[in-house]
Amino acid sequence: MDSIRIVGGHRLNGTIPISGAKNAALPLMIASLLTNETLTLENVPDLADVGLLKRILANHGVDYMVSGKRPGDLPNSGQTLGLTAAEIVDTTAPYDLVSRMRASFWVIGPLLARMGEARVSLPGGCAIGTRPVDFFLMGLRDLGAEIELDRGYVVARAPGGLKGGRVRFPNVSVGATHTVMMAATLASGETVIENAAREPEVADLAACLGKMGARIEGAGTSTIRIEGVPRLHGAVHPVLPDRIETGTYAMAVAATGGDVILQGAHPELLQSALDVLATAGASVADVEGGIRIVRNGAGVEPVTVTTAPFPGFPTDLQAQLMALATRADGTSSITETIFENRFMHVQELARLGADIRLNGQTATVTGVKSLKGAHVMATDLRASVSLVIAGLTAEGETTVNRVYHLDRGFERLEEKLSACGAEIERVRG
Ligand code: UD1
Repeated sequence: MDSIRIVGGHRLNGTIPISGAKNAALPLMIASLLTNETLTLENVPDLADVGLLKRILANHGVDYMVSGKRPGDLPNSGQTLGLTAAEIVDTTAPYDLVSRMRASFWVIGPLLARMGEARVSLPGGCAIGTRPVDFFLMGLRDLGAEIELDRGYVVARAPGGLKGGRVRFPNVSVGATHTVMMAATLASGETVIENAAREPEVADLAACLGKMGARIEGAGTSTIRIEGVPRLHGAVHPVLPDRIETGTYAMAVAATGGDVILQGAHPELLQSALDVLATAGASVADVEGGIRIVRNGAGVEPVTVTTAPFPGFPTDLQAQLMALATRADGTSSITETIFENRFMHVQELARLGADIRLNGQTATVTGVKSLKGAHVMATDLRASVSLVIAGLTAEGETTVNRVYHLDRGFERLEEKLSACGAEIERVRG
């Protein structure tokens, strides 16, 4: 297994190109199941999760084509992926594939809508909480699906097709919103989703579905209305820039000090995180084509932050913020409200000398003068990158083991950071 070796203590200076968003690319790829024509996605990041989803979709009959680079394309521009589900050859998503990535469960919506049946294994993914699928099942039942559980599989049927309905989610769920919205595009009549996720990736998926002929209003707000249509067609759609990657590098610069332009980043996708960074003492400015983050001279100020669904502070940046808070002049308080077990980075940060106390869902982080390099273990995707941030600021050498978690969500991380002066390399295992 590969590991990442970091020698800390270097400031970051330069430009970091931001990739297409993993969390937008995955539902967009899944939307290709809704039509027999080609869905072309631009700016798709080259990530392990994207590769795994290609395999899962291929199993259902999706052909894919990756376009080569054109003259003038930036070396860091993402790939263009053409996905064609001319025929769905299998409506089963098997355990060995779905158990490796939770988002692959979302195929249940389009398969059911287009084929009237789907048999999808219960999901796996990061071990950050129980992550049930009850909201998905509730939403699909509200659209007329019959659902039963059969030996670890969800079996969903709608022999006469799905019918529009009213879906009210008890809590905000990004995945359930994506899934029910996709299913409703081909249902007969109108569907109203209440308490829908407002994440930018939901609005991005709706924009793409709109190009494919779907009739959707209100995506990006908590009430989405979908008027079903008999069929969808092909489209071309660029993937949004990754707001979590943006926030991660912004936290890294705030932690190490320096001056970096996050090229291609859109500030409105992560305003709450940028506000927290400003409170922590970083200067954040919108510049042409991106965001500039600077921390020179000033120390890191403590912060009090609670994660929340969009537009609140994202749970996917909680671990990275904690790494930053370990360097603050004072005590920070970070409360996690989305996932019940998303603190596995705490004990690893402690190995580097961080002072963190956990009380229920709140971590109290008292800044220390310095962290000291050590061997640490990546436990999940976002936790792994918080260890990289901590390693960048620590004295001496840090080795982050099990970096396959990082490869699920961060494209060319070592390259992007070393171009800005970090001493970081991948050690092949
Ligand atoms: C998505 C993101 C993930 C992010 C999360 C929250 C992708 C690929 N992943 O995950 O990076 O951390 O949103 O912003 O986009 N829940 C239920 N029942 C359900 C569904 C969800 O109880 O049927 C709960 C979950 O356990 C969790 C909360 O709802 O506590 C939010 O989860 P959800 O928004 O569904 O997360 P994902 O879509 O899996």
